[in-house]
Amino acid sequence: MAERRVAVALIVAAGRGERLGSGGPKALVSVAGRPMLDWSVAALREVAAVKEIIVAMPPDRLDAAPAGVVAVAGGVTRSESVRAALAAAADGEVVIVHDAARALATPALFAEAVDELERGDADAVIAAVPVSDTIKQVRPDGRAVERTLDRSRLWAVQTPQVFRREALERALSAPAELISAATDDAWLVERQGGTVAVLLASSENFKITTPLDLRVAELLLRERSSA
Ligand code: CTP
Ligand code: MG
Repeated sequence: MAERRVAVALIVAAGRGERLGSGGPKALVSVAGRPMLDWSVAALREVAAVKEIIVAMPPDRLDAAPAGVVAVAGGVTRSESVRAALAAAADGEVVIVHDAARALATPALFAEAVDELERGDADAVIAAVPVSDTIKQVRPDGRAVERTLDRSRLWAVQTPQVFRREALERALSAPAELISAATDDAWLVERQGGTVAVLLASSENFKITTPLDLRVAELLLRERSSA
Protein backbone atom coordinates (compact mmCIF):
# COMPACT_ATOMS: atom_id res chain seq x y z
CA MET A 1 0.00 0.00 0.00
CA ALA A 2 1.21 3.50 -0.82
CA GLU A 3 2.42 5.61 2.05
CA ARG A 4 -0.46 7.78 3.28
CA ARG A 5 0.17 11.47 3.42
CA VAL A 6 -1.10 13.49 6.34
CA ALA A 7 -3.85 15.92 5.45
CA VAL A 8 -4.99 19.06 7.22
CA ALA A 9 -8.51 20.35 6.62
CA LEU A 10 -9.38 24.05 6.44
CA ILE A 11 -13.06 24.94 6.77
CA VAL A 12 -14.03 28.47 5.85
CA ALA A 13 -16.95 29.61 7.98
CA ALA A 14 -16.40 33.36 8.31
CA GLY A 15 -18.96 34.57 5.76
CA ARG A 16 -21.90 36.79 6.67
CA GLY A 17 -24.58 34.86 4.85
CA GLU A 18 -26.18 37.90 3.27
CA ARG A 19 -28.12 35.92 0.67
CA LEU A 20 -29.52 33.61 3.35
CA GLY A 21 -30.56 36.65 5.34
CA SER A 22 -30.62 34.91 8.70
CA GLY A 23 -29.29 37.96 10.55
CA GLY A 24 -26.23 36.11 11.90
CA PRO A 25 -23.25 34.20 10.47
CA LYS A 26 -24.52 31.53 8.05
CA ALA A 27 -22.19 28.79 9.33
CA LEU A 28 -23.82 29.02 12.77
CA VAL A 29 -27.41 28.76 11.56
CA SER A 30 -29.02 25.56 12.80
CA VAL A 31 -29.65 22.83 10.19
CA ALA A 32 -31.33 19.58 11.19
CA GLY A 33 -30.50 20.11 14.84
CA ARG A 34 -26.91 21.37 14.80
CA PRO A 35 -25.02 24.42 13.55
CA MET A 36 -24.31 24.19 9.79
CA LEU A 37 -20.54 24.15 10.45
CA ASP A 38 -20.75 21.12 12.73
CA TRP A 39 -21.91 18.85 9.87
CA SER A 40 -18.67 19.37 7.95
CA VAL A 41 -16.55 19.00 11.08
CA ALA A 42 -18.31 15.69 11.87
CA ALA A 43 -17.76 14.42 8.31
CA LEU A 44 -14.06 15.36 8.31
CA ARG A 45 -13.53 13.62 11.67
CA GLU A 46 -14.43 10.35 9.95
CA VAL A 47 -11.69 10.72 7.33
CA ALA A 48 -8.59 8.75 8.39
CA ALA A 49 -6.08 10.95 6.55
CA VAL A 50 -7.26 14.13 8.31
CA LYS A 51 -5.03 14.91 11.28
CA GLU A 52 -6.12 18.45 12.05
CA ILE A 53 -9.13 20.68 11.35
CA ILE A 54 -8.75 24.44 11.25
CA VAL A 55 -11.83 26.64 11.03
CA ALA A 56 -11.87 30.29 9.90
CA MET A 57 -14.62 31.78 12.06
CA PRO A 58 -16.32 35.17 12.08
CA PRO A 59 -13.82 37.23 14.13
CA ASP A 60 -16.37 38.03 16.86
CA ARG A 61 -17.58 34.40 17.14
CA LEU A 62 -14.39 32.43 17.80
CA ASP A 63 -16.20 31.09 20.88
CA ALA A 64 -18.69 29.25 18.65
CA ALA A 65 -16.11 26.89 17.08
CA PRO A 66 -16.83 23.21 17.77
CA ALA A 67 -14.61 21.54 20.40
CA GLY A 68 -11.40 19.97 19.11
CA VAL A 69 -10.82 22.22 16.11
CA VAL A 70 -8.30 25.05 15.80
CA ALA A 71 -10.28 28.30 15.44
CA VAL A 72 -8.84 31.37 13.72
CA ALA A 73 -10.40 34.70 12.78
CA GLY A 74 -11.48 34.74 9.12
CA GLY A 75 -10.78 37.53 6.64
CA VAL A 76 -12.88 40.01 4.70
CA THR A 77 -12.96 37.75 1.61
CA ARG A 78 -13.18 33.98 1.31
CA SER A 79 -9.59 33.60 0.06
CA GLU A 80 -8.33 35.69 2.96
CA SER A 81 -10.14 33.30 5.30
CA VAL A 82 -8.41 30.36 3.56
CA ARG A 83 -5.07 32.11 3.96
CA ALA A 84 -5.65 32.76 7.67
CA ALA A 85 -6.58 29.12 8.25
CA LEU A 86 -3.58 27.81 6.30
CA ALA A 87 -1.23 30.02 8.33
CA ALA A 88 -2.46 28.28 11.49
CA ALA A 89 -2.08 24.74 10.09
CA ALA A 90 0.56 22.41 11.46
CA ASP A 91 2.40 19.97 9.19
CA GLY A 92 0.56 18.21 6.40
CA GLU A 93 1.51 17.86 2.76
CA VAL A 94 -2.10 17.74 1.64
CA VAL A 95 -4.55 20.54 2.37
CA ILE A 96 -8.32 20.10 2.09
CA VAL A 97 -10.24 23.36 1.67
CA HIS A 98 -13.97 23.18 2.36
CA ASP A 99 -16.88 25.62 2.67
CA ALA A 100 -18.91 25.35 5.87
CA ALA A 101 -21.86 26.17 3.60
CA ARG A 102 -21.55 22.70 2.01
CA ALA A 103 -22.96 20.86 5.00
CA LEU A 104 -23.85 17.78 2.94
CA ALA A 105 -20.29 16.81 1.96
CA THR A 106 -19.71 13.17 2.95
CA PRO A 107 -16.63 11.49 4.48
CA ALA A 108 -16.41 9.40 1.28
CA LEU A 109 -16.15 12.51 -0.90
CA PHE A 110 -13.32 13.97 1.22
CA ALA A 111 -11.46 10.64 1.23
CA GLU A 112 -11.86 10.18 -2.53
CA ALA A 113 -10.52 13.66 -3.23
CA VAL A 114 -7.42 13.01 -1.08
CA ASP A 115 -6.87 9.59 -2.72
CA GLU A 116 -7.22 11.11 -6.19
CA LEU A 117 -4.57 13.74 -5.41
CA GLU A 118 -2.21 11.03 -4.17
CA ARG A 119 -2.80 8.79 -7.20
CA GLY A 120 -2.15 11.47 -9.82
CA ASP A 121 0.29 14.31 -10.32
CA ALA A 122 -2.13 17.25 -10.35
CA ASP A 123 -1.56 20.19 -8.00
CA ALA A 124 -5.19 20.12 -6.95
CA VAL A 125 -8.30 17.95 -7.14
CA ILE A 126 -11.68 19.66 -7.02
CA ALA A 127 -15.18 18.24 -6.57
CA ALA A 128 -17.50 19.27 -9.41
CA VAL A 129 -20.67 18.30 -11.28
CA PRO A 130 -21.63 18.77 -14.93
CA VAL A 131 -24.17 21.60 -15.24
CA SER A 132 -27.72 20.57 -16.03
CA ASP A 133 -29.04 23.98 -17.07
CA THR A 134 -28.18 25.59 -20.39
CA ILE A 135 -25.89 28.53 -19.62
CA LYS A 136 -26.04 31.72 -21.65
CA GLN A 137 -23.72 34.67 -21.50
CA VAL A 138 -25.83 37.80 -21.09
CA ARG A 139 -25.04 41.42 -21.87
CA PRO A 140 -23.72 43.46 -18.91
CA ASP A 141 -27.09 45.29 -18.70
CA GLY A 142 -28.80 41.91 -18.18
CA ARG A 143 -31.32 42.44 -20.98
CA ALA A 144 -30.18 40.29 -23.90
CA VAL A 145 -28.19 37.16 -24.71
CA GLU A 146 -24.72 37.49 -26.18
CA ARG A 147 -24.07 33.79 -26.71
CA THR A 148 -24.87 30.29 -25.55
CA LEU A 149 -22.02 28.29 -24.07
CA ASP A 150 -21.31 24.63 -24.93
CA ARG A 151 -22.92 22.91 -21.96
CA SER A 152 -21.19 19.58 -22.56
CA ARG A 153 -17.95 21.01 -21.19
CA LEU A 154 -19.28 23.14 -18.34
CA TRP A 155 -18.94 21.89 -14.77
CA ALA A 156 -20.08 23.61 -11.60
CA VAL A 157 -17.30 23.41 -9.05
CA GLN A 158 -17.75 22.70 -5.38
CA THR A 159 -15.63 22.05 -2.35
CA PRO A 160 -13.79 20.01 -1.14
CA GLN A 161 -10.81 21.28 -3.13
CA VAL A 162 -7.67 19.37 -2.17
CA PHE A 163 -4.19 20.79 -2.80
CA ARG A 164 -0.55 19.93 -2.54
CA ARG A 165 0.45 22.31 0.18
CA GLU A 166 3.20 24.11 -1.74
CA ALA A 167 0.80 24.74 -4.66
CA LEU A 168 -1.80 26.30 -2.35
CA GLU A 169 0.81 28.38 -0.54
CA ARG A 170 2.11 29.68 -3.87
CA ALA A 171 -1.43 30.41 -5.07
CA LEU A 172 -2.28 32.34 -1.92
CA SER A 173 0.80 34.50 -2.27
CA ALA A 174 -0.87 36.16 -5.30
CA PRO A 175 -1.43 39.94 -5.20
CA ALA A 176 -4.20 41.19 -2.91
CA GLU A 177 -6.54 42.20 -5.81
CA LEU A 178 -6.48 38.66 -7.18
CA ILE A 179 -6.97 37.12 -3.76
CA SER A 180 -10.06 39.22 -3.15
CA ALA A 181 -11.46 38.50 -6.63
CA ALA A 182 -11.14 34.71 -6.28
CA THR A 183 -14.35 32.80 -5.47
CA ASP A 184 -12.41 29.54 -5.62
CA ASP A 185 -8.84 28.68 -4.66
CA ALA A 186 -8.24 26.36 -7.60
CA TRP A 187 -8.53 29.39 -9.91
CA LEU A 188 -5.48 30.89 -8.19
CA VAL A 189 -3.58 27.65 -8.91
CA GLU A 190 -4.79 27.59 -12.55
CA ARG A 191 -3.62 31.10 -13.23
CA GLN A 192 -0.15 30.20 -12.03
CA GLY A 193 -0.05 27.37 -14.56
CA GLY A 194 -0.86 24.62 -12.06
CA THR A 195 -2.90 21.57 -13.01
CA VAL A 196 -6.31 21.04 -11.49
CA ALA A 197 -8.02 17.66 -11.75
CA VAL A 198 -11.77 17.25 -11.51
CA LEU A 199 -13.52 14.68 -9.32
CA LEU A 200 -17.12 13.88 -10.25
CA ALA A 201 -19.20 14.65 -7.15
CA SER A 202 -22.94 14.76 -6.46
CA SER A 203 -25.39 17.59 -6.80
CA GLU A 204 -26.39 16.72 -3.20
CA ASN A 205 -23.18 18.48 -2.22
CA PHE A 206 -24.76 21.85 -2.99
CA LYS A 207 -23.84 25.08 -1.25
CA ILE A 208 -26.43 26.42 1.15
CA THR A 209 -26.84 29.96 -0.15
CA THR A 210 -30.53 30.87 -0.07
CA PRO A 211 -33.49 30.12 2.25
CA LEU A 212 -34.65 27.47 -0.28
CA ASP A 213 -31.24 25.73 -0.06
CA LEU A 214 -31.55 25.72 3.73
CA ARG A 215 -34.95 24.00 3.57
CA VAL A 216 -33.63 21.33 1.18
CA ALA A 217 -30.53 20.74 3.33
CA GLU A 218 -32.71 20.40 6.43
CA LEU A 219 -34.80 17.67 4.74
CA LEU A 220 -31.81 15.74 3.37
CA LEU A 221 -29.80 15.85 6.61
CA ARG A 222 -32.82 14.75 8.69
CA GLU A 223 -33.34 11.90 6.22
CA ARG A 224 -29.68 10.86 6.62
CA SER A 225 -29.82 11.04 10.42
CA SER A 226 -32.84 8.78 10.55
CA ALA A 227 -31.44 6.26 8.02
N1 CTP B 1 -16.39 32.68 3.74
C1 CTP B 1 -15.38 32.98 4.66
N2 CTP B 1 -14.90 34.26 4.76
C2 CTP B 1 -15.42 35.25 4.00
C3 CTP B 1 -16.46 34.96 3.05
C4 CTP B 1 -16.93 33.66 2.95
O1 CTP B 1 -14.92 32.09 5.38
N3 CTP B 1 -14.95 36.48 4.15
C5 CTP B 1 -16.91 31.29 3.66
C6 CTP B 1 -18.40 31.19 4.04
O2 CTP B 1 -18.52 31.12 5.46
C7 CTP B 1 -18.83 29.95 3.31
C8 CTP B 1 -17.90 29.88 2.11
O3 CTP B 1 -16.86 30.84 2.34
O4 CTP B 1 -18.69 28.77 4.09
C9 CTP B 1 -18.64 30.16 0.80
O5 CTP B 1 -19.12 31.49 0.81
P1 CTP B 1 -20.65 31.92 0.61
O6 CTP B 1 -21.50 30.75 0.34
O7 CTP B 1 -20.64 33.09 -0.31
O8 CTP B 1 -21.04 32.37 2.11
P2 CTP B 1 -21.28 33.83 2.66
O9 CTP B 1 -20.22 34.75 2.14
O10 CTP B 1 -21.44 33.69 4.12
O11 CTP B 1 -22.70 34.19 2.02
P3 CTP B 1 -23.13 35.52 1.22
O12 CTP B 1 -22.16 35.62 0.05
O13 CTP B 1 -24.54 35.27 0.83
O14 CTP B 1 -22.96 36.66 2.19
MG1 MG C 1 -20.04 35.12 -0.01
